[in-house]
Amino acid sequence: MKSILLSFAALGLLCSAVFANPKPMTEFKPGAIWLDTQGKPINAHGGGVIFADGYFYWYGEHKIWGKSEAQKADGGIHAYRSKDLMNWEDLGVVLSVDYDNPDSDITYGCILERPKVVYCAKTKKYMAYFKLYEKGKGYDTAYLGVAQADSPAGPFKYSHRVLCAAAEKGSGDFFLFIDENSDLWHLAVRKPDKAFCITKFDDEYKYPIDASVKVLEGVPLKTEAPAGFFKDGKFFLLGSGSSGWAPNSARLLRADSVSGPFEFLGNPTSGENPINKLGPEKTFGGQSSFVIKHPTKDLYIAMFDMWVPEHPVEGKYIWLPITFENGVPKIVWQNSWKIE
Ligand code: GAL
Repeated sequence: MKSILLSFAALGLLCSAVFANPKPMTEFKPGAIWLDTQGKPINAHGGGVIFADGYFYWYGEHKIWGKSEAQKADGGIHAYRSKDLMNWEDLGVVLSVDYDNPDSDITYGCILERPKVVYCAKTKKYMAYFKLYEKGKGYDTAYLGVAQADSPAGPFKYSHRVLCAAAEKGSGDFFLFIDENSDLWHLAVRKPDKAFCITKFDDEYKYPIDASVKVLEGVPLKTEAPAGFFKDGKFFLLGSGSSGWAPNSARLLRADSVSGPFEFLGNPTSGENPINKLGPEKTFGGQSSFVIKHPTKDLYIAMFDMWVPEHPVEGKYIWLPITFENGVPKIVWQNSWKIE
């Protein structure tokens, strides 16, 4: 008994050593292990960031420890909040997959990816959207799951699922955008033909309007991981090719408005990630997930995921500032950087 107690005490000491409050971060370290304010690695993959109530909120895929992608690692949406984009407080899983009800759309074993949150001023709800594939069907029909919350810190309640791009098989990785008329738009690759489409939602941001669907001219087929942003009157779309969890070359497109037509600007990345020796042809080993526009600074941050499908919880994040050369966005590798 005594030795059991001693081992518990030793385990406790070990845990507090591992999860001791780390020193606050003072710079971004792309590709490195990123600890939250309690010293635990951040678990928010394929995510996005919003600014609300004086905080940044980071929502991403909660990956279950010990599971590979093949063994169903998706646990729901994990949220963090921060004042400075570097030091993140864990808010926990704000939408969990359902471990009890096998009939739920989000029953454990479903694929729940790439969550993004927007605020709907009309309903005063925070709306979370995510790619949702039914349990047991693999990457077949790609639904968009919808959940909602009263506060950006959650909890989110699952609401329903929809099919975007007026496609029977749905659509893939997506970017969301609210225009000056408060309309919500969804941009994604349509299945199975991989044309890149835009879909408008109803005014409560709940259902897609099929009659609004349009193929976006100039966006190459199979554009995944779209992350859009506006700068000086132009709309830019950062994305990737389609090669599953394996990295490929980033792509950038430009248009006068979100509905195109788009001009292809090539690969905006340069430099090399010293951790894996990967450069622009493999986007430093990452895939885009979101671009953060800082609310008060002329700063755009591109977010990428370094996926680890064999042990997804260990996936790291690459956040890099976007620079502009004659109005053209560039993303240059940096081992560390700070917000000035
Ligand atoms: C990627 C996509 C990820 C995930 C993966 C599965 O292209 O961006 O979200 O769906 O494929 O292979």
